Amino acid sequence: MSDRYIDFANSSIGHRVVGALGLPTPVRLERWQAGRLRPIEGALLIGGGPLTEKVSALANRLTDTIYSYGADPTLATAWIPGHGQKLKAVVYDASDLVQVDQLKQLREFFQPLMKNLDHHAHLVILGRAPETLSDPFAASTQRALEGFSRSLAKELRSGGTLQLIYVGEGAEDQLEGPLRFFLSPKSAFISGQVIRLKACEAQVMDWSRPLSGRKALVTGAARGIGASIAETLARDGAEVILLDVPPAKNDLEALAARLGGRGITLDICAEDAAAQLIEHLPDGIDIVVHNAGITRDKTLANMTPEFWDAVLAVNLNAPQVLTKALLDSGTLRDNGRVILLASISGIAGNRGQTNYAASKAGLIGLAQAWAPLLSERGISINAVAPGFIETQMTAHLPFGLREAGRRMSSLGQGGLPQDVAEAVAWLAQPGTGAFTGQALRICGQSVLGA
Ligand SMILES: NC(=O)c1ccc[n+]([C@@H]2O[C@H](COP(=O)([O-])OP(=O)(O)OC[C@H]3O[C@@H](n4cnc5c(N)ncnc54)[C@H](O)[C@@H]3O)[C@@H](O)[C@H]2O)c1
Repeated sequence: MSDRYIDFANSSIGHRVVGALGLPTPVRLERWQAGRLRPIEGALLIGGGPLTEKVSALANRLTDTIYSYGADPTLATAWIPGHGQKLKAVVYDASDLVQVDQLKQLREFFQPLMKNLDHHAHLVILGRAPETLSDPFAASTQRALEGFSRSLAKELRSGGTLQLIYVGEGAEDQLEGPLRFFLSPKSAFISGQVIRLKACEAQVMDWSRPLSGRKALVTGAARGIGASIAETLARDGAEVILLDVPPAKNDLEALAARLGGRGITLDICAEDAAAQLIEHLPDGIDIVVHNAGITRDKTLANMTPEFWDAVLAVNLNAPQVLTKALLDSGTLRDNGRVILLASISGIAGNRGQTNYAASKAGLIGLAQAWAPLLSERGISINAVAPGFIETQMTAHLPFGLREAGRRMSSLGQGGLPQDVAEAVAWLAQPGTGAFTGQALRICGQSVLGA
């Protein structure tokens, strides 16, 4: 469904009307286009502490134009505020800030560049996870980065985004994957997030096809977000297997044929679903995306047992049972990736969605609980939590709820299925085993549950 407010606010007359009324003007976000090669098309500024050396070493694979500010000037051309081109991407290493008075370095670094950011600029701050630091003052200083970065993300304009990445011990050499994702339009609808990276042995061999040689299963793939995930995984080189209910057979098989993959028609809640699935995957699988999901909204006072049971069965029980069966049978290979489609409803709660929010919170819990056990086999498991995404599911919402869902975020609009698909494709990469047991919100920094 098209967002008429964005169309209006970005028209020449609409822009004037919206400005005169003091209303927000969300910009149309820049997204990754087929055929693009460079993650950053424009200037990258690097500054801060010791990790700048690691970032500088890979920066020429991200863009041609690299500046440094306040860092070792031998690493790149020195940036002078107000001169040269506007900044399309910024990486600031705050990992060595361990005392309160050092936090002013954040203000000193970011203040001059706030008026020199290009449209759709992507910013990343690097730090060390507070829970890994034994000195309480250092841990508190690193935790302060969260408040700073979430607030600064809310001050960005023109589609700008900002994330904080806590870099774990041994993960310093694995920054390329996250930076390729978070400094590019692939993460256009993600902002204000805190990401924890751990060390990971598996690495991407070819950045133009990072999923080459990997086999991926996507449930609920006949339409909406699932179809977009299947397309994006295939674009990145994966062989895709698409699953959906028997009534969706025609759409499913048409998409599977277009992507050079195959379709499986199966109700994931069928009693023998696990056995059937394993039978369909005799050669094993590397990536499982549990995307199939339903809503049956009612306030609890009016919730029928059927509505409750259906949502919990599809959204939570089936991913639990199927993942366990794929693991126990050895169908999910070592270094595999499991990605669960949660929702910000599962974080913030939502009126009329006790069943849905319980199921989605359960998925986040599943990722957290299973991650340490699966890491022995190099398998990562994560949840993604989309906010308001423009699909058939949200097109059916009443007008008021739909508008609130779109506007109550820093980016002032709904996301597209592509935004979720790009995040899933990043989580599916070999090197992203460094990220596990977490919930990545794809919500334009929605105020819900923030
Ligand atoms: N659209 C949003 O704003 C939004 C926000 C947060 C989370 N999500 C989640 O993202 C996922 C995809 O959402 P969408 O908007 O694309 O939904 P959608 O309704 O457009 O698509 C869901 C797909 O899942 C399939 N499916 C449902 N039950 C199934 C079953 N028992 N067995 C096999 N397949 C089944 C459907 O046939 C359909 O093709 C869902 O898990 C949803 O909860 C969506």
